[in-house]
Amino acid sequence: MKTSRVICVASISMIFALTVPSRSAIARAPVVCGSKGEVVASLLAVGDVGQPRRFLDLFDPGLAVAEAIASEHARSPAEALLLLGDNFYPDGLSRETLRDRLRMNVIGPFCSFLSLGGLHRSDLESACTVAETDRHPRPIIVVLGNHDYGGSQSAELEKFEVPRWIPEWQMPTSGAEVYELPGSISVIALDSVALHRGGDVSPLVEALRRSHGDWRILIAHHPLVADGYPWEKRYVSQIQSAVAETGKPIQMMLAGHEHLLAVGLTGLKEVPLQLIAGSGASARPAKSDLMGEVFSLVELGFVRIDLIRDHGEMLLRAKLIKTADSPIEWWNEPSVVECYWVDHGGIVRESRR
Ligand SMILES: [Fe+2]
Repeated sequence: MKTSRVICVASISMIFALTVPSRSAIARAPVVCGSKGEVVASLLAVGDVGQPRRFLDLFDPGLAVAEAIASEHARSPAEALLLLGDNFYPDGLSRETLRDRLRMNVIGPFCSFLSLGGLHRSDLESACTVAETDRHPRPIIVVLGNHDYGGSQSAELEKFEVPRWIPEWQMPTSGAEVYELPGSISVIALDSVALHRGGDVSPLVEALRRSHGDWRILIAHHPLVADGYPWEKRYVSQIQSAVAETGKPIQMMLAGHEHLLAVGLTGLKEVPLQLIAGSGASARPAKSDLMGEVFSLVELGFVRIDLIRDHGEMLLRAKLIKTADSPIEWWNEPSVVECYWVDHGGIVRESRR
């Protein structure tokens, strides 16, 4: 954060701190999920970030989350940023809005992941406030959400046009794709909107078949729901059948759509653990019953995944990290609110250890 901005934040905050109650003032005790092990690879994930900006950045919830993600990436760079859909509210992208929305919802908040090496660089770089020497360009692996299908051009623009402007932007051009990352992690990105609309599961089957990492992480916009509508039940069974057909289980699923932080122990051997981090720009209670829910918190935030080698054993650790409600809450530091582990065999372990 720049010095002038700190001064501005501090002075305005002195006024608001006395008058504005903070939801985050009801603090949970920090969760201890440390490990003496070695971090082999990391990922950062967040969903539903695509809100148009507020009139003042200082009050923008999405920027509070993005700043916390950027701090995590600066502290210990991740291999990739995963965006879990609803990237552009309310109706996705159009050719007319493309430039402004990329500046507003990608370049500005996530510049520390970008090289700015694509088309129209001169048109985009003024939206980035991070010096080139402080950036760590990484793939941004993105799935479509229901709002991204709002406009007739939107999904196609996100698949084919955005990568020309932002080379780090990677999105399945069919229903699913696999991205191989350091640490032998295969990220399988799934268009869950297509499946909810009756789509065929074969792209997911093919992506799973092509995956060759030791670890498989599924990312999709829609979480797994318990006792849901017929199309939600079909979605669960499609994922199960894809795993069964390929014999390639998924250790962890990351989803958005519900605007909160949550953990589900699904009881499914195909996908034993789901994490929801759809509070990338707003927070509200879930509309559906999340499968196997063991934790939920209506707060803004994101997820950090670390692959850890601990006494010769490899484990995936997921930390749910709560952030401030807006950048003006300079006193409200991001904090870990829950932490889960899963081993290669899909056995999930509780947090505090
Ligand atoms: Fe959604």
